[in-house]
This record gives sequence, C-alpha cells and structure tokens, in this order.
Amino acid sequence: MAIIESPAIRWHGDRLELLDQRALPLESRWLSYENAEDTAHAIRDMVVRGAPAIGITAAYGVVLAARILGSEASLSNLQPAFDVLAASRPTAVNLFWALQRMQAACQLQGEPLIEQLSAEAVQIHQDDRDMNHRLAQHGVAMLPPDKQVYTHCNTGALATGGHGTALGIIRSAWAAQRITGVVAGETRPWMQGARLTSWELLQDNIPVTLVVDSAAGHVFKGGGIGAVIVGADRITANGDTANKIGTYNLAVLARHHGIPFIVAAPLSTIDPQLACGDAIEIEQRSAAEVRSIHGVQVAPENVPVFNPAFDVTPAELISAIVTEHGVIEQPDTDKMAAHLASAGNPR
Ligand code: MRU
Repeated sequence: MAIIESPAIRWHGDRLELLDQRALPLESRWLSYENAEDTAHAIRDMVVRGAPAIGITAAYGVVLAARILGSEASLSNLQPAFDVLAASRPTAVNLFWALQRMQAACQLQGEPLIEQLSAEAVQIHQDDRDMNHRLAQHGVAMLPPDKQVYTHCNTGALATGGHGTALGIIRSAWAAQRITGVVAGETRPWMQGARLTSWELLQDNIPVTLVVDSAAGHVFKGGGIGAVIVGADRITANGDTANKIGTYNLAVLARHHGIPFIVAAPLSTIDPQLACGDAIEIEQRSAAEVRSIHGVQVAPENVPVFNPAFDVTPAELISAIVTEHGVIEQPDTDKMAAHLASAGNPR
C-alpha cells in the first residue's frame, strides 16, 4: 500500500508513524505505532496534538486494533480499542467524531472489515487537508488587508491533515499578499506557538515575530494587528469555543482594542449536542508541566498548580467562525444551526 502522509502523520498500512512534536523544533524524530493502546498514549502524551490530528490518529489506531484481531475483528471486539482511544484526551471533539465515523464503518456491508476501516481512516486523513484548503479560501477575505495577524497555539500542518486551520488561512493570506506578517504567542506551558508555529512559518518564509503570551495586550495597543485568528477544539451549538488556554484572554483583549477575533475550524470541530461552552469538559494536565520548563524546574516542587489545557471563549466575543462551508459572522445558536443545515447537517 502507498504511504498516506502529511507533515506529522504517516500511514504505512500496517503501522502508523507520528512526528514526535514534543521534540520539535530541536529534533525531527518519527515514532512508530502498531496497536491502539500505544496510539492512545501518543495522543495523551502530546506526541501528536491539535484537534484534527488527534482525530486522524485515533482513526488509524482503530485500524491497528482491527489488524491485530484479524478475522475476529468486529464492532464489539473493537470496543476496548474505541474505549482506550476515546479516553486519551477529553476536550477536542474531532477525536470522538473520528471514532464515530470508524464505528459507522464497522457496520458497512461489503468489503472485509479491515479494508473498510482502513479506507475510512485514510478518507478522514485526506478529507481534513482538503477541508483546510476550502476553509482557507473563505478565511482570507476576513482578514483586514496590509496588517499583521496575531495567532495562538499551533493550528498548522502539524495539527491537522495538512495546511492547517487558522494557520492555513494565514498561509493562504500571505500567498495572496493580504497580510504583512504574523505575531505568534508562545503558548505556555507546552509552547506550541514558540516551538511549532514559529517553526512552520519560518519554513514557509512567512515573517513571524514571537512574543510571550503576556505581551498580547501591549501588542494589540500598538495598533499593527488587523485580526486575532485561532483554531478550536470544540465549538458548541451557540458558537462558544474551547481552544488552547489563553484564547479567552486574547478574545477579551481583542474586543477592548476593536480587533476582529476569528475562529477557524472544520465542521468536525462543531459539537451541536452541547448547548453552550459550560458543558465542555476541560482537560486538566499535570502540575509538572507548569512547575518545569523542558525538564528544568522553575517553581517550588510542592507549590499547588492549576493547569487547564483549554478555556472557553463565549460566542459574543467571536467576530466570525470560519469553516470549510463558509463564514458565520457574530455566531449564535440560530446562525450555527443554519450553517450546519446548509452544509447538509454533517454533525
Ligand atoms: O493541546 P493541543 O496542542 O492539542 O491544543 C491544540 C489547540 O488548542 C489548537 O488550537 C486546536 O486543536 C486547533 S488545531 C487545528
């Protein structure tokens, strides 16, 4: 079988390779996975991260489990694999969306189950890249011309099936000479902005300036930022958006400074089952991530720590949500429902 690959994920048909994002940008090393349990650990341990990328990875994890079961593979025999993958991280709905697609593929008649599951996982992977390109076309026009944009976390090719969501719009906007450059917040504690976003942008020769997260207010006040553009891990029926911790701060600051605040995400990130953001489970990660930076302790070892990985930005602070289907300006429950309906209610 031909290798199906994107910048962070390679599928070989009998094994999965993930670019170890914990080591970037200092080292590019690929790790190999042959079963669902190890794949789930890779998601939990941040070898792979970003909502669409963990959905794609989980789909391949199901295929790996089916390969081990061989002729015994069935929806019920695969349940432990579905369970371990679903338990890996709680907030990004793309993970559960991908697992639901894999469950549905188990029930198709026709080809042997392993073939059906393999084809579905590859489709999820390839569709994501295509969706990102469509999303980017809608998003470019939303950016005020001839200004810089500010982004948070990493929403690029590393976090998706390729191109990226918010970073995909930025890539396309730069190619269209719409923006003059990017300011990236470093994104404590995992440093996705410092380690991954600045690395991706430099590779594409897109001008990027890295700032500490707490510089955002000062930068916005300076007047050079045309828009803040971020990704999402889960968008509820009313448009409330869970994304990397610190996103909510940026939305409040953007509103204060009259800067458009734009969320970019595929339809697979929308969770219409949840009425509003209060219902989203926010992942809590370990105290060690805050007490240490890259293994170097920077705080007393016994200081109590609160380490939510995500926060929720209320819909009223969001200027627009951009999906592969178009733009929802000033999102609310009615506009979100109309958007999903006009896209054929894929969720
Ligand atoms: O903890 P992470 O790195 O998985 O968090 C990622 C984010 O918050 C991204 O902004 C989001 O998943 C969108 S990625 C296209």
